Amino acid sequence: MAHITVDGTLLEVTEGALLIEELLHNKINIPHFCYHPSLGKDGNCRMCMVEIEGQKRPQIACDTPIKNGMIVRTKGAKIDQVKRAMLELELINHPIDCPICDQAGECQLQNYYMDVGLYESRLSTPKTHGQKRVDLGANVVLDQERCVLCTRCVRFTQNIAKTNELGVLKRADHSVITTFPGTQLSSPYAMNVVDLCPVGALTNKDFRFHKRVWFLQSQEAICNGCARGCSLFVDHHKEKYKEEVIYRYRPRLNVDVNGYFICDAGRLSYKNENACQGVHPLIRGKISESEYAEGKLLKLLKRHQGKTLWLISSTLSVEEMVRVQQVARTYGSFVSAYGALYEDVSFGDTFLKCSDRSSNGRSLKLLHIDASEGYFETALDEATLVITVGRNDVDTLDAKGYSNSVVIVSQQPLEACEGVELFLPMSSHMARDGSFINIDGRIQYSACAIPLSPDVKPLLSILANVLNDGVFTCKEVWEHHLSDRAPFLDVSFENLPIKIDL
Ligand code: SF4
Ligand code: SF4
Ligand code: FES
Repeated sequence: MAHITVDGTLLEVTEGALLIEELLHNKINIPHFCYHPSLGKDGNCRMCMVEIEGQKRPQIACDTPIKNGMIVRTKGAKIDQVKRAMLELELINHPIDCPICDQAGECQLQNYYMDVGLYESRLSTPKTHGQKRVDLGANVVLDQERCVLCTRCVRFTQNIAKTNELGVLKRADHSVITTFPGTQLSSPYAMNVVDLCPVGALTNKDFRFHKRVWFLQSQEAICNGCARGCSLFVDHHKEKYKEEVIYRYRPRLNVDVNGYFICDAGRLSYKNENACQGVHPLIRGKISESEYAEGKLLKLLKRHQGKTLWLISSTLSVEEMVRVQQVARTYGSFVSAYGALYEDVSFGDTFLKCSDRSSNGRSLKLLHIDASEGYFETALDEATLVITVGRNDVDTLDAKGYSNSVVIVSQQPLEACEGVELFLPMSSHMARDGSFINIDGRIQYSACAIPLSPDVKPLLSILANVLNDGVFTCKEVWEHHLSDRAPFLDVSFENLPIKIDL
């Protein structure tokens, strides 16, 4: 360890680490464009200048290793003047079109200008112009005029995605970011360049012009697109008299799982959530009240006691799975996860994306929920009621020759739901909370990210009403039914996330 003084405050830091890392770690505002923790230093923007006692000239914090006893100044008349001069250089040819820029509200250039800029342009010659809408492929659009040439996007394609589609073309104030001739952004992680871009030069075709960012609310959650379970921000908004709409997912830093990035498929999967709206319980195709429909479920369970098969999805949380098992034990039912574990080798890679697309398949295995065809067929032969949860298997049931009663508990309205005995909508992944075990055995709690629709209930609440035992929340399920059960003996709700041996 080393001790340094920054703006008069003594800090304990790591000897040899980059000064910018420790400044950012200690939440000290240090302007920077080209440095990014995942990409390292490049030293091209010169925005991170600091004064270091004993040095004649200001130094860039992103290329200064820490030495014990350093005395650093990040503010003051002299250093503010340096930052102002660097910013003026960045802005010489910038179009200053913030009112129509999608990045407005979360733009580092805009923020720094408000911090240390605030000057009139001294430029008397015309600005250099670039193209305003270059389609780079993979949903990414480039505005060349807004680019500050920090090269974060280029270094991402070189060092992280390793697809090398981007480069800097031409010289001086004619320099532009471009794809190499005949290529387009094609990496399955390409849209991360939009998050990396510190200004509005790279925008996301899927999100741009859909919502100003200051209207959005952000919640933390976990992606359920594959077994990785990447950490996300869910940005959503509700217009008056309309349903809640999710506008985008953004990666959330989680060094143990996804680092700074997510894949494009996971990023765009917010659309599935928006499709889970406007659903109502249906009894034999007729719209019903939630309470009445839940009462119907209880009646069916009693009527088909000992002859019910629960067919559950691998997208259920560990709390939901254990509660389904409890209901099944109470009513002498079978629980099967047949068809819930699935591999997609065309999806997986060596970075984040897993061929295993079941977001909580490990919980099925740890809770000993049988996914074999043999068990499913045996249970189906005896069943007079099948309850599919988090999935729709009417076609599978038809194919197996099953013709008795079916209940669907699902987040999405399906055509098939109209023909079944009961359709009970359950809240979608982002509208309910739960814990998921990822491919490495990390149990992660995902909080409810968006408000519930009035006619839709979380599965835990539906099951609590069936069991009538007052256990409604994930915390209560851990306390009463999970923490005393192998392999969760050392786990409690409070110490999530935690890694267990698979
Ligand atoms: S497009 Fe954005 S990330 Fe790429 S060099 Fe320009 S400012 Fe940096
Ligand atoms: S890698 Fe998997 S969990 Fe991560 S964002 Fe992509 S689909 Fe979602
Ligand atoms: S962040 Fe230090 S030079 Fe760009």
